[in-house]
Amino acid sequence: MPIAILEAQDEDIPRLFAICSLAFGQTEPAWRAFFPNHWTAAGRIAGAERYLKTKQSDPNATYHKAVDTDTSEIVGFSIWTVYQDRLLDYPPDEAPAPTYWDNADDAEYAMSIIGYIMKQRIEYIKSLKGNAVHLNTLAVVPAYQRRGIGGKLLSWGLQRADELGFASFLESSAMGRGLYEKHGFVFQRDMTIGVPEKFAGRELCCYASLIRPMGVRVSDSKPRNGPVCHQADTQ
Ligand SMILES: CC(C)(COP(=O)(O)OP(=O)(O)OC[C@H]1O[C@@H](n2cnc3c(N)ncnc32)[C@H](O)[C@@H]1OP(=O)(O)O)[C@@H](O)C(=O)NCCC(=O)NCCS
Repeated sequence: MPIAILEAQDEDIPRLFAICSLAFGQTEPAWRAFFPNHWTAAGRIAGAERYLKTKQSDPNATYHKAVDTDTSEIVGFSIWTVYQDRLLDYPPDEAPAPTYWDNADDAEYAMSIIGYIMKQRIEYIKSLKGNAVHLNTLAVVPAYQRRGIGGKLLSWGLQRADELGFASFLESSAMGRGLYEKHGFVFQRDMTIGVPEKFAGRELCCYASLIRPMGVRVSDSKPRNGPVCHQADTQ
């Protein structure tokens, strides 16, 4: 199964979105909240349109695809953003209209999750004076997982971070954490996303915050479980 890592183009976006949908499945509550009905045909089309707008609106984000060169099938992808003397703006220009969601509550819930994550990102990038490399997304089709493709997709951003002498950081799912720790990322803490009180009955969304300090190449730290959800903070 030879794999080539290539820069992804706009026309690849529907496939990249489908890969994310397959990889995250319906088990990741934040993904379900961001991309309602992403497992349906209509949800995939709407999600891909939103993904395309996001791609086209951020010239600092680089999309890579992993291609099985035997079949020409795209089987994984990554999105890396390089911040170079640049602070992160929020809300972004391409923030989706509330009508993207089924109802106003779902829209508010999703935007409050995104807002929480963005606040942490903004603060960290600011602490580094606008110089950092961020892994936004990494996903591999389930049938192709655990064959080293995730690691290959990580390489581009890590190499870029090393060239620039920048730290890299990410918000990790439970599945990703072991891989990131193998590549020099250091676990910081488990984050439980705070949402307004009215959403207290909804499933908790959580992630692990990991940083790969400048100059660190490979960590010998052992993968651990996580992220662990605690009682959510309310905003
Ligand atoms: C995380 C992900 C991208 C890894 O891709 P991959 O191609 O399997 O990665 P690699 O083969 O290079 O590395 C595999 C390592 O990832 C971790 N990993 C992969 N699948 C895992 C799982 N189901 N449970 C726990 N760890 C897992 C392990 O550390 C594994 O190493 P091991 O096989 O020696 O135990 C893939 O599992 C995925 O798409 N998961 C769903 C989406 C997701 O969680 N993305 C990360 C968002 S931060």
